[in-house]
Amino acid sequence: MKKIPVWIDTDTGVDDAVALIVASKLDEIDLAGVSAVAGNTSLENAFRNARDVLSLVGRSDVKVYHGADRPLVIDLHTAEYVHGSNGLGGAKIPLSDAPIQTENAWDALYEAAKKYKGELVVCPVGPLTNIAIAIAKHPDIVGMIKELNVMGGALIGGNVTPCSEFNIHTDPHGAETVMKSGIHVNLFGLDVTHKAYLDDDDIDAIASFDNPVARLFVDSNHLLYDAREKLHWKGVCEHDSCPVIYTARPDWFKGHDCGIYVETQGTITFGKTVSDLWTDFKFEDRHCTAFLDVDRKKFASKIIDTYRSF
Ligand code: RIB
Ligand code: CA
Repeated sequence: MKKIPVWIDTDTGVDDAVALIVASKLDEIDLAGVSAVAGNTSLENAFRNARDVLSLVGRSDVKVYHGADRPLVIDLHTAEYVHGSNGLGGAKIPLSDAPIQTENAWDALYEAAKKYKGELVVCPVGPLTNIAIAIAKHPDIVGMIKELNVMGGALIGGNVTPCSEFNIHTDPHGAETVMKSGIHVNLFGLDVTHKAYLDDDDIDAIASFDNPVARLFVDSNHLLYDAREKLHWKGVCEHDSCPVIYTARPDWFKGHDCGIYVETQGTITFGKTVSDLWTDFKFEDRHCTAFLDVDRKKFASKIIDTYRSF
């Protein structure tokens, strides 16, 4: 089976770590590179966490590049209330001894896109700042990336405001650049990621595995457990694993082609992903597939099996 080359751009928080861990073990993909972006936590934390998580799972071979330390236009607002002060919920893991990559994210991504000649799939699971910079600095990258499998946005609702999701709200200008670039975007917004959760039995299963990777899951998710109680979630949503697992198993997800624009001028609506999916009115640029459903059992089993394997 020919492996799919995949690049992950991440603001390495708690659920980002799960996505990196799952990606490191998926047979269907070749993890071509990782880039860090400020979002959940500082760029410094996101860069270190990505390196350390990959080393923890024996993938120090995957190079990690540092990207933007702030959004394109607005100030950075991180999410310590969910991801803790170090980005991993306070969990401590050994520091990676992999060589430090000095090339920046957008140039490294461009080189990877050229290397894979149109086959590279990029999974941004944080604010879209790095991807927007890569498009602005290297416009020909648009024809070299096969698709962007993005965790972000929400056709209905939001988690930072009633109508805006964290990754988009953190850098709506970056998101607008990406949505209008012409690269096809498979969008995994809250509409589907709120269905992509680990329930109590799933969490108990992972907690029962006696290995350092499963212990990282338990030690890093306590703030999300608390949030779950307060927000009456059915479980712990693994937002960032959606685009990654979709890349390997697209049959587990259901999406609908549409146009999506990002609101960058509004006040109440600032950072909203506006879709023409359900209207007769259609946007001029229609380069998106919005995913609304997932086979949760298969999704959760894949994550559990990954954590069992260490
Ligand atoms: O809204 C969920 C997204 O915001 C996830 O990517 C999570 O890691 C945070 O970045
Ligand atoms: Ca993230």
